[in-house]
Amino acid sequence: MVLRLFLLSAVVVSGAIHFAAAHEGHGDEAAGSCAGSPDIGVVAYYRPGIVTVDGREDDWDGIDGFEVQLLPALDPDVDKAYAGGKMSIKAIHDGSNVFFMLQVDGEYAYSQGANEKCPSVALMFQVGENASYHNMGGCKNLPGSCNNMSCRGHEVDIMHFSIGNAIPGRLYGGNLADNSEGTGNDRFGHLVDVYAWNPHCRYLDGKGPTGKSSYAQNDWHGAWWHSKITFNSGIVAGDSPYSEDGVKGTYYFEFSRPLRTMDRSQQDVQFVIGQTSRVAAAFWYPIGEIK
Ligand SMILES: *[C@@H]1O[C@H](CO)[C@@H](O)[C@H](O)[C@H]1NC(C)=O
Ligand SMILES: *[C@@H]1O[C@H](CO)[C@@H](O)[C@H](O)[C@H]1NC(C)=O
Repeated sequence: MVLRLFLLSAVVVSGAIHFAAAHEGHGDEAAGSCAGSPDIGVVAYYRPGIVTVDGREDDWDGIDGFEVQLLPALDPDVDKAYAGGKMSIKAIHDGSNVFFMLQVDGEYAYSQGANEKCPSVALMFQVGENASYHNMGGCKNLPGSCNNMSCRGHEVDIMHFSIGNAIPGRLYGGNLADNSEGTGNDRFGHLVDVYAWNPHCRYLDGKGPTGKSSYAQNDWHGAWWHSKITFNSGIVAGDSPYSEDGVKGTYYFEFSRPLRTMDRSQQDVQFVIGQTSRVAAAFWYPIGEIK
């Protein structure tokens, strides 16, 4: 019997994403999109009808990725960067929806139902005008005293995908069951729509410090894939894609969301074509296997 402990490595990068209008060319620098954001300058080009959200990246050929080094969130020291290499972030929009492709090398690690033994990935966007990346919005109030009045202006919108129950290539996120309950949950694949004022005051959309806060939806959809999977038919749970076999390769995480949502409570970021939004990405990889 082997005891295996996995530690999580949280890594985060931050910057800005510019939503190019249809006439903005590929080579445009999207002036101002990187102002105040040294790390990322992702441009979401207008490319309607080229991408299918299936976790596969072949349809992203020709879209420039922005490469970022992944540093530990708590100790952002270059010496401690994620050893698997940089993460590439690509974005496009089709006039109604935004699409993201996050690509990062890592050995295959996928234990059924054990999110802490699988990679997970998150995107965080500024919503409130005074929200900081640091401390997920940076509201000073702690649970018990953080609420939509005391932390007003510090809202950030978070999409978090933990793949422990998500079959590669299948679509997760917003679904009828959770949306009909008015929350950003995803009981099937854990691709959830969350908002926060700081790391301690983080809630599913539609919930808040005192329970139900509004009627919300999970507005995200997404899928994941790993290059080690060569099976080209649709995968089902019965195919047992779960393993910890450590095959080297690349993870792909693909997402979509409407540019605008029906949020009424500052829980979702709203994207505007021609404007820039602030974004941060995080990737957790199970490391430190102790036998
Ligand atoms: C953001 O902070 C400024 C300066 O403290 C303040 O005037 C403004 O009302 C804040 N915005 C919100 C939405 O609370
Ligand atoms: C704050 O949340 C409560 C419910 O939790 C809601 O009744 C109220 O309208 C919200 N206020 C604002 C300013 O969003």
